[in-house]
Amino acid sequence: MALAKVLLLALTSLATTTLADVRQYDFTVGWVDRNPDGQHERRVMGINGQWPIPAIYATVGDQVVVNLKNELGDRPCSLHFHGLYMNGTSHMDGVAQSTQCPVPANSSFTYSFNVTQPGTYWYHSHVDGQYPDGLRGPLIVHDPENPYADQFDEELVLTLSDWYHDEMPGLISSFLSVTNPTGAEPVPNSALMNDTQNLQIPVEPNKTFFMRIINIAGFAAQYFWIEGHTFRIIEVDGIYHKPLEADMIYVTAAQRYGILLTTKNDSSENFAIVGAMDQDLFDVVPDGLNPNVTSYLVYNTEASLPNATFVDEFKPFDDILLEPTDELALFEDPILSYTVDVKMDNLKDGVNYAFFNDVTFVRPKVPTLYTVLTSGNLSTDPTVYGINTHPLVLDHNQVVEIVLNNHDPGKHPFHLHGHDFQVLARGDDDSGDWDSEALSNGTVTYPATPMRRDTLLVRPNGHFVIRFRSDNPGVWLFHCHIEWHVDSGLTLTVVEAPLQLQQQLAGKIPEDHYDACRAEGMPYEGNAAGNTVNLLDTQGMNMSPGLLPTGFTPRGIVALTFSIVAGLLGVAVIVWYGLSEITPTEQEREESKIDALAKSSGIVEVTGVNAAEVDTKGKAGHGNARPV
Ligand code: C2O
Repeated sequence: MALAKVLLLALTSLATTTLADVRQYDFTVGWVDRNPDGQHERRVMGINGQWPIPAIYATVGDQVVVNLKNELGDRPCSLHFHGLYMNGTSHMDGVAQSTQCPVPANSSFTYSFNVTQPGTYWYHSHVDGQYPDGLRGPLIVHDPENPYADQFDEELVLTLSDWYHDEMPGLISSFLSVTNPTGAEPVPNSALMNDTQNLQIPVEPNKTFFMRIINIAGFAAQYFWIEGHTFRIIEVDGIYHKPLEADMIYVTAAQRYGILLTTKNDSSENFAIVGAMDQDLFDVVPDGLNPNVTSYLVYNTEASLPNATFVDEFKPFDDILLEPTDELALFEDPILSYTVDVKMDNLKDGVNYAFFNDVTFVRPKVPTLYTVLTSGNLSTDPTVYGINTHPLVLDHNQVVEIVLNNHDPGKHPFHLHGHDFQVLARGDDDSGDWDSEALSNGTVTYPATPMRRDTLLVRPNGHFVIRFRSDNPGVWLFHCHIEWHVDSGLTLTVVEAPLQLQQQLAGKIPEDHYDACRAEGMPYEGNAAGNTVNLLDTQGMNMSPGLLPTGFTPRGIVALTFSIVAGLLGVAVIVWYGLSEITPTEQEREESKIDALAKSSGIVEVTGVNAAEVDTKGKAGHGNARPV
């Protein structure tokens, strides 16, 4: 009996290896015109003339090869495969200035990697905050050994997204501007499902769907529910979990949920599938914004499509309740626990930046991975990566803990590349910093088999504690997956097992990866500053602007900036306030004026929201009733 079992196992593994395939995708990225919300046509980044861009499909064990050709004309791009561990192929992770140089216009670049994990993922550009312009789509890895395989009949992929009528480069420059000192994020113009609205999904009664829900948004989380139905959650971010029933989930940008949805046994009626963008994220809700998107489960083509109804309150499922199917136990107490405090603040140029422990991310001159590969034993010294990449250098095969304290009144979805992580604790709104006393006095206990995922929400002024094992040598970013906050610096760089990484990747970086650097004129050797002689000398590295002179407040900057912009544009009346609240010295005033002028010389339009009217981000409310 035992022997038979072993034999059977051997046969299955043989079967899976021999079935392994090469999945080749030839992707030419270029512009196409689309109008997905029916309100505004614009150009979007398509692939092979298609948009929505094609999904990538693979089966566990496959090798995926993506031949990328950049035909955007005037800008670089890249592709990142969100959630894949990329074990042994950190150089294929697709992050510009971390694991490769950006792929220049009119050039090609090949990604090639093995897929070792099943689940629901996505892929997106990881350059210059550009994926909300359309370069993002599903990546699905099928599993011949899916433990829930006998529980569903069909599979369905459903993307959620926010949508902007304007292109990212313009939005980013108005976001990161002295005229937006509170850091108010551009608000999306609409919400989409499968990159459209009012999608009709034909269904039959008494069938079970494995629905893979992916939020590919640049900013907005969505509440998601299906009227008249509940569902069972079996997968989050690629990790199988024991089925738990829910009627509403909250899906942040970059998160995925795999749910089992069983249709009714009666096909007389149709039902709305609703996605509602979380408006708590928006500083100002513009008039006329429809935060919701609706699709339909169509049981009966003769019957009408219902109008989605109001919900009194958003009460989404709490993902922390989930338990992974593999029952992986809580990792042992770590040797390294790293605490990061998140805040938003202004620097000397008047712009509002985002910080982990007072460091805002600035891309290094040399992609961090290439610094690892060319710095020998000094690769374990964080100095070589430059202060503004916020390097966190890890030893191999350790349990690592990250404690994140959110000192911002906003919600943020944090994502770690190259890993999933165990979620040990998460504080409610305004719970303040993590306090390990809570463990010793028993107010908090860690779950024995913690939920695992790769993107986790932190609550306003709350915290979370996560753990993972540093068993995957590589350069991996940890960042907020709100693209605005990537742009304003809410990123740190995990340099995991650099010495092992050097061995793993010795001689393995393909020539077209270096060609990208050459074409862009970017160095690919030495420390963050490109110094190959004295690796500990990072003079000349890219750095963030200096601190704001004391005495300045965001309001003060608004006032000052608006007086300058008003002067420049000849605007007759600008209403502002706050000037009386600041008392900078004459010298500081002059310094700041010079900085502001330098920065604002490129500002022609004062965009959308009048910065002086922008509420600061201290909105406490959440879960309010919203009409749907
Ligand atoms: Cu979806 Cu840094 O990634």
